[in-house]
Amino acid sequence: MHTRVLTGITTTGTPHLGNYVGAIRPAIQASRDPNVDAFYFMADYHALIKSDDPDRVEASRLMITASWLAAGLDPDRTTFYRQSDVPEVPELTWLLTCVTSKGMLNRAHAYKAAVDRNIENQEDADAGVTAGLYMYPVLMAADILAFNANKVPVGRDQIQHIEMARDIAQRFNHTYGRDFFVLPEALIEEQVATLPGLDGRKMSKSYDNTIPLFEGGPKALREAIMKIVTDSRAPGEAKDTDDSALFTIYKAFASPAETAAFADALHGGLAWGDAKQVLFERVDAEVGPMRERYNALMARPEQMEDILLAGAAKARAIAGPLVETLREAVGLRSARRTPKTAEAVTPAPVVAKAKPPRIASFRDTDGSFRVRLFAADGEELLLSVPFADPKAAGALRQALSTMGGTNAIVEAKEGRLVLSVDGQVVATGSESSDDSALPRLRASLDALAAATAEEAAAKAAHAGQGA
Ligand code: TRP
Repeated sequence: MHTRVLTGITTTGTPHLGNYVGAIRPAIQASRDPNVDAFYFMADYHALIKSDDPDRVEASRLMITASWLAAGLDPDRTTFYRQSDVPEVPELTWLLTCVTSKGMLNRAHAYKAAVDRNIENQEDADAGVTAGLYMYPVLMAADILAFNANKVPVGRDQIQHIEMARDIAQRFNHTYGRDFFVLPEALIEEQVATLPGLDGRKMSKSYDNTIPLFEGGPKALREAIMKIVTDSRAPGEAKDTDDSALFTIYKAFASPAETAAFADALHGGLAWGDAKQVLFERVDAEVGPMRERYNALMARPEQMEDILLAGAAKARAIAGPLVETLREAVGLRSARRTPKTAEAVTPAPVVAKAKPPRIASFRDTDGSFRVRLFAADGEELLLSVPFADPKAAGALRQALSTMGGTNAIVEAKEGRLVLSVDGQVVATGSESSDDSALPRLRASLDALAAATAEEAAAKAAHAGQGA
């Protein structure tokens, strides 16, 4: 089966060694797996949230594009594009915005951090906060959902955004009654090293402790490596490799055998200065050939433009039809399709539209009583366990029609949904259930509970009239 893997790179900075080891290299590696359908893009609309410096945004887009291509990304095997070349993304953003709960966005970490800072400084809670920052998670959800990506490789700080994308997808599916979207999953690469920076903390622009990947050439690479903080042990003294940033960076570029040899040399008293030279040479052996390609690409930006536009065309071939379907689903439909007569534009009565899910009871061949739950579209969602007593089957019927989706105790066991009531397994779903089976079941239980409540209210009103 093809897994669609998608990730975005915010185009604000210059790629550094930490980006290469933590994101670029593993993503390119993953894209070579024949079972992976990789979508990688410059999140340049997201960049506008972080930077209002046009030249910086422009330069960063180019440098990041060149870096990924130079590091070996094959634009023919992958879909490599700029977010801003895919107008379906902002269009989808709006459709999603209209089902997104504002309360959820209030809880987004980046927004909350800004508010907390303001409150701490006794400013207005939203001082300096743009609506762009606030909407960041919805734009990111559109990035992912426009392609129905299955897996999204991200850093830990982005997990909440993936959860929000799932929430938004579920709400949309539920509101418009169909599985338009698959629910994406965050992919956290545990084995991939987070590279330490010059001062030993995680290499990050915000700590100002980065080692450049290509910019500045070998000279800048060497100069940065010489600035890596080490302890004060003198040449000849045994060095500790355990919490040495220098050693950790070496390990990220070297084979196990090279790493063991380097550790031996350090334990044997190799001077830090010499160790830095060894590290520089090892890193440059991998990065040097890429740097040549990088420089060639940066010298011909029009070539990158062609590659990116071809990527956008591939991306739009997928997002375009999906957004077309969604427009139709939400009611943004062509007026030409149906004759503009009064009947045609009069919406169908709501009662007729809202066909609820259905419960059916039946007697099995062995004489036991069972219950089935069907979705509104006829799909069988649950089959109950057999009951000897028809009253027990009746009680389950009653429970199913009132419990609602949120309260239902459902878990997935061996690929099947299992519903329990009072600690007893009472019904199971079909074997081939996918990720969307659970939200579908919950949605149906919700619809059923709503229909039951409506019916009860109507009966009560009727009884009231009679009295
Ligand atoms: N927010 C991500 C980051 O800062 C970048 C990003 C934008 C992204 N859209 C995305 C990542 C979609 C994954 C999927 O790292």
